[in-house]
Amino acid sequence: MFELAQERDSDWWEVEALYDLCFAPGREALSSYRLRDGVPPVSELSLVARDADGILAGAIRFWPVLVGGRKALLLGPVAVHPTRQGEGLGGLLIRDSLARAVALRWERVMLVGDAPYYARFGFFRLDGVEMPPPTNPERVLGRALVPGAWDGVKGKVSRAT
Ligand SMILES: CC(C)(COP(=O)(O)OP(=O)(O)OC[C@H]1O[C@@H](n2cnc3c(N)ncnc32)[C@H](O)[C@@H]1OP(=O)(O)O)[C@@H](O)C(=O)NCCC(=O)NCCS
Repeated sequence: MFELAQERDSDWWEVEALYDLCFAPGREALSSYRLRDGVPPVSELSLVARDADGILAGAIRFWPVLVGGRKALLLGPVAVHPTRQGEGLGGLLIRDSLARAVALRWERVMLVGDAPYYARFGFFRLDGVEMPPPTNPERVLGRALVPGAWDGVKGKVSRAT
């Protein structure tokens, strides 16, 4: 029903409009955006989902970051159009992009989000991983893409150059 494809330059503003619709106004004031400023997204993992008519239904982007100097993926934003939510598309975007991340040999992924949603994909609270303030530490979550990849990885999250 939905086709996933790597986001292209021509998709950028359509995806931005979807994010504006799905998130509270001022989303770009969030501290996670400071980690994205001036850094290109990871294009191989940033996906758009379109229906059979080509209408954009959902999107996911990833950025590279450093955690205590170690490379990690920052998942997000991910959003599904309000008329398409609850059909499994968010889960499809997350699972498909993480499988691609494994194939590309990324070792760890993190995000800032709701633990009750992301726990189903294997995300857990990252103790000692410090997002730029203000961020609720309860919402800082991670998942290893290779076993043990978060063991001993702590410290400040900073922009990848
Ligand atoms: C979060 C989002 C991407 C999920 O996409 P989706 O296609 O609706 O998700 P799925 O169909 O795969 O999963 C739906 C399930 O997730 C649950 N869910 C969705 N958002 C949730 C949240 N914030 N906390 C807990 N559970 C949540 C739904 O209740 C539903 O539960 P069920 O399977 O028990 O019925 C979508 O709701 C969205 O775009 N929300 C607005 C933007 C946003 O908050 N993005 C995430 C930022 S952290």
